[in-house]
Amino acid sequence: MKNKRILTGDRPTGKMHIGHYFGSLKNRVKMQEEYETYIEIADVQALTDNFNNPEKVRKNIKEIALDYLSVGINPEKATIFIQSMIPEIAELTVFYSNLVTIARLERNPTVKTEIAQKKELFGESVTYGFLGYPVSQAADITAFKGELVPAGEDQMPLIEQCREIVRKFNSIYGEILKEPEIVLSETKRIKGLDGNEKMGKSLGNAIYLSDSPEEITKKVMGAVTDPNRIKKDDLGNPDICMVAYYHNLFTSKEECKAVCEECKAGKRGCVACKKQLAQNIIDTLEPIREKRTYYEERPELVDKILIEGTNKARQIAKETMEEVKKAMKLDYFKEQ
Ligand code: TRP
Ligand code: SF4
Repeated sequence: MKNKRILTGDRPTGKMHIGHYFGSLKNRVKMQEEYETYIEIADVQALTDNFNNPEKVRKNIKEIALDYLSVGINPEKATIFIQSMIPEIAELTVFYSNLVTIARLERNPTVKTEIAQKKELFGESVTYGFLGYPVSQAADITAFKGELVPAGEDQMPLIEQCREIVRKFNSIYGEILKEPEIVLSETKRIKGLDGNEKMGKSLGNAIYLSDSPEEITKKVMGAVTDPNRIKKDDLGNPDICMVAYYHNLFTSKEECKAVCEECKAGKRGCVACKKQLAQNIIDTLEPIREKRTYYEERPELVDKILIEGTNKARQIAKETMEEVKKAMKLDYFKEQ
């Protein structure tokens, strides 16, 4: 079990927030101790729906690397690499594209939802690249023979599609590829400070791992609370208050109990309650911010980690590619 290989990744389209922390990063930090971990910064995939904004993708490579390192992804234990610097992934994508039908891609629930959300970008007809990104993601995973893919529920249809490609490949060309398994994170998606189901930049309701104490305080002070509470002695309902919801993530069990009881009894002011929460978030994120500063002050070290990680990853992708080409009878001019 110990040496199973993990392959996971993120599109570099923005800074990571506390939803990412509880949803995936924390889990990866734990898993890197036990498994051989590869983490891909998926810039090629990011371009499938940001092809008109290459600057954004480029800028976020460094942001994501800093996010990873600041939460404790350890480059001694986990390999961080950049997708576009591994041409074998693109090559595999071409081979796999013969093993997938257009109808099957169009039926992929994740792709379907995303296309519906991106009407503005794609208009009436989606690009070949976007429709095909599950094929490219299958290449991401299988180039490294990834066995476990820690990811959110939204990634399930992509992993299922990857498994189908693997089965098809192996049945035609021989047992070369590994069928990956998804490892779902335990934490559910965390709601935004405004109560929205999703946290995101466009919604302005997220706390980023890189936020300063002042930014955190400002955001928490603007969080949505029980609208029926006007005076401190109004009886409150923490079940409809985002501050109470966040206390559950950042505050000790005992303190949380006190928050709820005092709120319900009208014995707790919302301003004090928010200040307490802001402080707890600041304290939790403090070691992360400290680590981030360390790496921000050493940009050449971050570059080195990315270059070395990518070189190491490329070596593995090359080995897989050799096996794949041999199986596909594309190993021309090789000595017998
Ligand atoms: N599709 C993933 C996301 O949007 C990112 C990703 C790219 C990925 N390649 C991957 C995730 C390989 C897991 C494995 O979050
Ligand atoms: Fe929310 Fe706290 Fe105000 Fe209750 S006292 S409504 S939990 S902010």
